[in-house]
Amino acid sequence: MEIRYLNAHATGWNFKTVIIFGFEDESLPETIPALTGEAAWIRESPALKDFSGKAKEIAVLYGPAGSLLQRVIVVGLGKRDKFDFEVLRFSTATAVQKCKALKADGCAVNLENLSRLGHPVSALAEEIVCAALLSLYSYDEFKTRDEEEGDFSIEELTLFSADDDMAGEIQAAAGRGEAAARGVIRTRDLVNGPANHVSPAFLAQTAQEMGKRYGFKVRILERKEVLKLGMGAFEAVFRGAMQDPKFIVMEHAPKGTEKDKPIVFVGKGITFDTGGISIKPSAKMHEMKCDMAGAGAIFGLFEALGHSAIKRRIVGVMPCTDNMPDGNATRPGDIVRTLSGKTVEIINTDAEGRLVLCDALTWAQREYDAEAVIDLATLTGACVVALGMEVAGIFCEDKAMGRQIQDSGERVGDKFWPLPLWDLYFEPLKSDVADMMNVGDRWGGACNAAAFLKQFIEENTRWAHLDIAGPADGMKKNPIHIGGGSGFGVRTLLEIARNGIKE
Ligand code: BES
Ligand code: ZN
Ligand code: ZN
Repeated sequence: MEIRYLNAHATGWNFKTVIIFGFEDESLPETIPALTGEAAWIRESPALKDFSGKAKEIAVLYGPAGSLLQRVIVVGLGKRDKFDFEVLRFSTATAVQKCKALKADGCAVNLENLSRLGHPVSALAEEIVCAALLSLYSYDEFKTRDEEEGDFSIEELTLFSADDDMAGEIQAAAGRGEAAARGVIRTRDLVNGPANHVSPAFLAQTAQEMGKRYGFKVRILERKEVLKLGMGAFEAVFRGAMQDPKFIVMEHAPKGTEKDKPIVFVGKGITFDTGGISIKPSAKMHEMKCDMAGAGAIFGLFEALGHSAIKRRIVGVMPCTDNMPDGNATRPGDIVRTLSGKTVEIINTDAEGRLVLCDALTWAQREYDAEAVIDLATLTGACVVALGMEVAGIFCEDKAMGRQIQDSGERVGDKFWPLPLWDLYFEPLKSDVADMMNVGDRWGGACNAAAFLKQFIEENTRWAHLDIAGPADGMKKNPIHIGGGSGFGVRTLLEIARNGIKE
């Protein structure tokens, strides 16, 4: 779907299908005073009589014969004082899906009636574009096409407003919305992709391709190099796997930023998590193809960066491997030496995320003088128990940074809630025979995992850990999410990349 902007007055609305927004506590003429002339029939349209303006409610109105404007999709935004970007995203998406169901070849969104909501119209335009694109997402890579049905897609989305001063600003905003959506879609494709397809090698190849296309620096550390460096914890996870591990590093450093301190994102890239020798029950094991969603979110961020003009140095570090049982796999009780030098007694091979992350975190801190290090991982079922499927845990002792990540997330629809990093959570991880164990008891599992990672964070590193085990793949359907991989985190990372980490 192509996105464009048009400067047009209501009286000249010359589109086949227009989407307009209506509030529950306002009548349409109040909402759009410009509904006169050509488009005046809208106000008298009988279909409007049943329209109450509740969020996501739809009314389809048809113009009289010969009118320029043929079809109007009115979509409800609910009560005015309840309005937020989530309402706008869901309502836009519902309307766009209606356009698709009606096989409209294009649709146009009127921005006029949103200009008085106290939000900059550009921010609204960004959300509208992003939501429209995400509402049309589906994962059908492995579906055989029905030749007769064919593929229907809406060709274009036009944003229009009568305010002629807005063009540049809205075009830029639409570009941001599109970049964000492309990022989210990249992540969804990778998370939805089955593990026999989305392997470590596939991810490495994807990184290389994106590097070529967008000018990122890409480095892949292969098995030999990883072993030579001494990543004993990462090794403990990949040694049972048949497919080679890939330690993927992507860097976005536009001219002039090459020497800046980068923001470094570290993502768990377990392409499939069987649990290893501590094998998982089979019932829901297939869901563990999602266990690379941390790395997946970083791929999404880079896809978005490729479509943006963000002048900031950003690095992504993604340790990728399957976690498999095998004759060569790590046994419970094995002790390994991590890249940091600290030793870990591996009590449970299913707590593999923290093992790949601890070495990646050490590597990242040694390699870069980072502005901040932020890791993302589908790390613990315990985090899902604590916060549910829709919300990610955020662990961050730097209050300002934690707040910023949480606020950024809220703006773009990623929900984060803080969990503690107190030292007491390290107590159950103390080992009799090594510096620590990789699991403790079953209580506070998300916090224990975070406390484990904290052992590998240097004194002066600004660090946040995001446990996205719930929302990465478990979010319930909504108008901008069909289920499965959600692309959770991508837009938050993009906000951080755009704004930097505040002091
Ligand atoms: N990949 C899982 C966590 C997970 C659970 C991700 C649900 C997505 C949805 C992780 O590697 C794991 O197996 N964690 C264990 C840790 C336990 C052994 C301490 C868990 O959460 O049960
Ligand atoms: Zn696991
Ligand atoms: Zn895992």
